[in-house]
Amino acid sequence: MKVLVIYGHPNPASFNNGIKETIVKSAENKGHEVQVRDLYALKFNPILSGADFTEFQSGSIPADIKTEQDFITWADVLVLVYPIWWISRPAIIQGYFDRVFSYGFAFSYDQNGPKGLLPIDKAIVINTAGTPEGVYDAWQNSKELLTRPTDEGALYFSGVKSVTHKVYYGINVSTPEDREGYLKEIEAIIEGL
Ligand SMILES: Cc1cc2nc3c(=O)[nH]c(=O)nc-3n(C[C@H](O)[C@H](O)[C@H](O)COP(=O)(O)O)c2cc1C
Repeated sequence: MKVLVIYGHPNPASFNNGIKETIVKSAENKGHEVQVRDLYALKFNPILSGADFTEFQSGSIPADIKTEQDFITWADVLVLVYPIWWISRPAIIQGYFDRVFSYGFAFSYDQNGPKGLLPIDKAIVINTAGTPEGVYDAWQNSKELLTRPTDEGALYFSGVKSVTHKVYYGINVSTPEDREGYLKEIEAIIEGL
């Protein structure tokens, strides 16, 4: 399988970087082809601009967006790795959806409404959150805020058929043993591909 990892964390010393490295290693060990799009390292521009709209309207696609779309076209599986920031996605991930999941590439509209266009069977989303799960549990529906915008708002909306989403809570108070367990679980998810 062709596995495309879309990675959105700026800090090489982060746990997210460890997650990304684990995913790459596990996928390669299983004989999958892997490509990583490390959005901060690539200095991916997350700002959907007026110039982008002008170019879309003239029938072409900005070169940096086309590059990312070609990676998606190549892939069988998308794996997104990013931390929860402000009960949401880091702006670079938001901007990735804004610009790369463009009209005519990821979705279109007809008389019946939106239509997903990505021929992707599976996406896996891995997040870390600083706040412990119990705090989210005590705040009604807050866990859905972390998952639905990406799962339903972007991936299912764009035609992805199945999404596995894991949030590892309380990462800032987790022990090395907790983290080791999380990486083992992630390894198993990737080995299940
Ligand atoms: C800008 C920013 C915003 C954050 N917002 C949240 C938040 O809304 N909810 C939460 O649980 N943690 C939040 N955190 C904590 C991060 O989720 C946490 O530090 C991260 O998941 C730890 O993983 P890392 O070591 O890979 O960065 C935030 C952190 C930063 C830097």
